[in-house]
Amino acid sequence: MLDGRNRVTGIFTIEDLRRRARSRLPRVLFDYIDGGADGEVTLRENCAVFDRVRFLPRNAAAMGTCDLRTTVLGTPVELPFLLAPIGSSRMFFRRGECVAAAQAGAAGTAYILSTLSGCRLEEVKAASSGPVWYQLYLIGGR
Ligand SMILES: Cc1cc2nc3c(=O)[nH]c(=O)nc-3n(C[C@H](O)[C@H](O)[C@H](O)COP(=O)(O)O)c2cc1C
Repeated sequence: MLDGRNRVTGIFTIEDLRRRARSRLPRVLFDYIDGGADGEVTLRENCAVFDRVRFLPRNAAAMGTCDLRTTVLGTPVELPFLLAPIGSSRMFFRRGECVAAAQAGAAGTAYILSTLSGCRLEEVKAASSGPVWYQLYLIGGR
């Protein structure tokens, strides 16, 4: 479900998101997002690596300030990650590229727009208060 501010509700894990996507999207779109390249070797390895990461909650312990800021290629960001280019996001979420760019900017990080964008480049740039980069495919040669 989406609330009035375009936020997804009732989701706690990535698997919850996956089930939601599978139940709502046409099969061909779900497979496009869910599948990996070729034999899906890298996809399996990425999932295995994330499965090995554990958080160790330290309840009621005083923490100093937590500063996650860093720079990527000279660009300052508030979080140590960016939103990777996802081609044709608009196929599976209304104005997907603009929404993702806006959320990245609100969170203080950069959004990378795929060449295969469903939204106009200028609109995506305008949607975000943060850095927006462009991932260029040389489709059809130089
Ligand atoms: C549905 C989907 C579409 C993607 N489209 C693009 C794309 O257009 N351009 C691109 O460079 N990478 C694309 N990627 C790759 C992602 O940007 C990202 O590199 C990949 O999901 C692996 O994540 P990681 O780089 O954090 O390991 C796509 C990935 C998915 C799952």
